[in-house]
Amino acid sequence: YLNYRVPRTRKEIFETLVKGLQRLEYRGYDSAGIAVDGPSKNTDINSNNICLIKKKGKVKALDEELYKKDSLDLDEKLCTHIGLAHTRWATHGEPSALNSHPHRSDKHNEFVVIHNGIITNYKELKKYLITKGYDFESETDTEVIPKLIKYVYDNRESDITFSTLVERVIQQLEGAFALVFKSRHFPGEAVSTRRGSPLLIGVRSEHELSTEHIPVQYKNGELCPSLSINSHNSSDCSNTMGDDKAVEYYFASDASAIIEHTNKVLYLEDDDIAVVTGGELSIHRMSRQAGEDPVRAIQTLQMELQQIMKGNFDAFMQKEIFEQPESVVNTMRGRICFDSNTGDRHLSRFLESLLAGTDSDCCFCLPTFQTRQILEELTELPVMVELASDFLDRNTPIFRDDVTFFISQSGETADTLMALRYCKDHGALTVGITNTVGSTICRETVCGVHINAGPEIGVASTKAYTSQFVSLIMFGLMMSEDRLSLQNRRLEIINGLRMLPDQIKTVLSLDEKIKAIASELYQQRSLLVMGRGYNYATCLEGALKIKEITYMHSEGILAGELKHGPLALIDKHMPVIMVIMRDACYIKCQNALQQVTARSGRPIILCCQDDPEVTKNAYQTIELPHAVDCLQGILTVIPLQLLSFHLAVLRGYDVDCPRNLAKSVTVE
Ligand code: F6R
Repeated sequence: YLNYRVPRTRKEIFETLVKGLQRLEYRGYDSAGIAVDGPSKNTDINSNNICLIKKKGKVKALDEELYKKDSLDLDEKLCTHIGLAHTRWATHGEPSALNSHPHRSDKHNEFVVIHNGIITNYKELKKYLITKGYDFESETDTEVIPKLIKYVYDNRESDITFSTLVERVIQQLEGAFALVFKSRHFPGEAVSTRRGSPLLIGVRSEHELSTEHIPVQYKNGELCPSLSINSHNSSDCSNTMGDDKAVEYYFASDASAIIEHTNKVLYLEDDDIAVVTGGELSIHRMSRQAGEDPVRAIQTLQMELQQIMKGNFDAFMQKEIFEQPESVVNTMRGRICFDSNTGDRHLSRFLESLLAGTDSDCCFCLPTFQTRQILEELTELPVMVELASDFLDRNTPIFRDDVTFFISQSGETADTLMALRYCKDHGALTVGITNTVGSTICRETVCGVHINAGPEIGVASTKAYTSQFVSLIMFGLMMSEDRLSLQNRRLEIINGLRMLPDQIKTVLSLDEKIKAIASELYQQRSLLVMGRGYNYATCLEGALKIKEITYMHSEGILAGELKHGPLALIDKHMPVIMVIMRDACYIKCQNALQQVTARSGRPIILCCQDDPEVTKNAYQTIELPHAVDCLQGILTVIPLQLLSFHLAVLRGYDVDCPRNLAKSVTVE
């Protein structure tokens, strides 16, 4: 929403929208579209008309399309303007211009909407609206929303506000959504709402903001006064002097889309309805629930634009792999004091709220196998690792004395969020581990950790994985602070954490060697990754990276299970990567190596430096620094991140935007 003292041209508005989409493209990229105010000079079209431009493919294709529209005057100046832009990741209906957003109510574009999420009852709504004479043009679930708002508008009994229309629409919707509406019946007004999908509002003003929060206006019951962020008259374009203060509002599902305009943001709660009109933002709800905060705070983001730029790297994923020496330090910063005698006096400040005193079982959601063993050792409690989707399918028993962790880079993953709500309903203590300040998981858990890895743009997670790993290790250290018998082990791990950044740099220096290995492997169809103990998680994670971005078949195999099936796959043609580090599983891993070489397998081995015993049986080796057993997984996963990157480049694929995947999976 633009409300500017110095009017902007339509070209500048296009550029702002397209730039925002490009920053969000990593979340979905099969088609894109925008809605802007149509040409006011063109007299054969009604005033307030809205122009929709949509295109299959990446944002670049949309950008090119924008400048082909002869009917749109690029130099036309607008002082108040609402533009919508969306990049899609298909859930219902194939990627196409017609299925892409914004969706519209009718051929006159009376209402247009963009949607992130999924509407689960769309079939019933669509059937009903068809019986009422509304025609659908796409195969999407989203299209019921503009049709429904038009239906409510067409059947209104008296004057109705835009926000009331939206409120009535969302009462009928089931599923998850973040929505932004624009209408030719309400020019200069934008309405936005969310349930389950992320949505933030960025506020940019030429002057200091006059408030730090926006009060919620309740329709029934308690009423807080409305408040404008800046007091000014929005409609007078000619007023370029005096007290008039320019305001721009940015509604976005992710801060990276708006950070170059402002770092002042507020996050909406489920079912909040935000309205911007006349330069003022207001937030509406039906009624105030017990314990509900009646204001939405304006926060200052720490993110810098530079953090979401590629710099000298060819891909975001590559940049993020090479950031790991710093990102793990950022995860530990202020949380471990390496200089003190005890080594860890800051660890108790680690969680943002209390956890001490619990002696219950731990249950982890999401595949966090890497740290399970050390957490069991340090907490002396059983730790269950759960995939959120499977956890929900099973209606898993959860009790009040359980501690449940929700580990998610984005903090928005739909199945993890549902698992969180399920555990909350069963009375368990909930802990979030996320990389995204203000995310839904962050806000809905009782306490938690921001991993502080910095924005991760590449769809395949790299630095967030290693920072989650470090966070969980620190959690184990915190939980074992008062166990006398564990002090030596704790100091060994803390010392290992201190050495980690330099060891990661050593691993990254092997990049050329790994690239050479990739050039031998890139035409293969399949790649097995084998290990056990602390390094089994590395095999799963490495195989996932390879699948995600190279489209090769890859499987992480527990070496102990070799003879129960996978051994049948081994011959001289099958590429096998083995992880054999000097830890408690070393001898057992060597047995697996013998089984592989006895079947003419040609293993590429990730091993410790100076290990002639392993090296003599290897086809190739990648020699890594020796770390404490429970931290070794951080060093063994990085060569597999690099390998997957080089394989994908050699196979000619877009590393940052793998087909069919999106960074933030906000649908089940
Ligand atoms: C793997 C990857 C995905 C995500 C998963 C969960 O490289 O990126 O498998 O880990 O979609 O996403 P978050 O961590 O945002 O919950």
